[in-house]
Amino acid sequence: MKIEDIKNDFPILANKNIAYLDSAATTQKPIQIINAINDFYNNYNANPHRGAYSLSIEATELYENTRAKVAKFINAKYPEEIIFSKNATESLNLLAYSYGMDNLSQDDEIVLSIMEHHSNLVPWQKVSKITKSKLNYMYINNEFEISDEEIDSKITSKTKVVGITHVSNVLGTVNNVEKIIKRAHKVGAIVILDASQSIPHFKIDVQKLDADFVVFSGHKMLAPLGIGVLYGKRELLNKMSPFLMGGDMIEYVYEQETTFAPLPNKFEAGTQNVEGVIGLGAAIDYIEKLGYDNIQKIDKELVLYAREKLSELDYIELYLTPNIKNHSGVISFNIKGIHPHDVASILDSNGVCIRSGNHCAQPLMRYLGIDSTCRASFYFYNTKEDVDRLIEGLNKAYNMFKKYVK
Ligand code: ALA
Repeated sequence: MKIEDIKNDFPILANKNIAYLDSAATTQKPIQIINAINDFYNNYNANPHRGAYSLSIEATELYENTRAKVAKFINAKYPEEIIFSKNATESLNLLAYSYGMDNLSQDDEIVLSIMEHHSNLVPWQKVSKITKSKLNYMYINNEFEISDEEIDSKITSKTKVVGITHVSNVLGTVNNVEKIIKRAHKVGAIVILDASQSIPHFKIDVQKLDADFVVFSGHKMLAPLGIGVLYGKRELLNKMSPFLMGGDMIEYVYEQETTFAPLPNKFEAGTQNVEGVIGLGAAIDYIEKLGYDNIQKIDKELVLYAREKLSELDYIELYLTPNIKNHSGVISFNIKGIHPHDVASILDSNGVCIRSGNHCAQPLMRYLGIDSTCRASFYFYNTKEDVDRLIEGLNKAYNMFKKYVK
């Protein structure tokens, strides 16, 4: 695969004259993934696990082979440790309800980072209220990072669950999850790792990390919208009760009682998003063909270039770690005195797509003393020209608004 040709794989980028800088919200989809979904509907569409006829059996094989592919991709020990969900949010809700409600009680503590996305925070507020457990936070320092001291002081013998995002969707900070996982295990807590913003960019090896649970969304790593993954250690998943009830997750159903299917079906109630699973399989093929080494090389070059260009603008406030090795492909910033939605609208008129707002991280915003930011996020199909267009657009926005800025 030639790096120069990458952009041509993405029809939307070839058809529209845009600088797409919102991959942290969702990535664009290459033709290979679109074709894989078409191929499924043209040749294999049937409901997996439901039919004794060959089309359904083929659909089942495709579905289950993709589970094995996902397991291999993140180095899970067993395919049944992979549960397909709607997205990372649903995976996190599953964990909060099925693990949190059953395993926490008064005096126990849940520790999250202040940079969690609402999806790894709001469900734990509910668990904390119902189980009367306490919700604590690890805060960031002046370098937008969680220090070792903060990790050690917040994760204590009372901690039972630690929820941590691998990469902040606002700051791009890569958290020291190796240290967090070691510390949590030392005090007997389990760790839920939100890999939504990391797995598109670098290799996740669940055995090496020794994470208990890992969640991510397919749509942030080239796959279609509406497909997510929950990885869990088999012994933990086996002990958990189901989250959603319905077809295919049962063993025997009586009038008053039900016994449940073994993993992974226990957690996959109802007809699944098979096209999403097929698309996710194709996305893994694409990422493996391109290679994480290449992805990281492109990411790093782009992020360094963007950091450099943005820091030359004296009207910009940047929210990022100075430690480049701890920084992934997300940059949040503000033009002092101008609302991020206004900046985003002006950028849009220049064909530059960024996200503006609180990025589903209101507690982090409050901690930073702001209510919103502009956010540019990068992926391997971006180029330095996209960054230049961003800078041009920002200059335009600043020049339009500067007379109103106090
Ligand atoms: N969680 C996604 C983001 O950060 C939607 O934009």
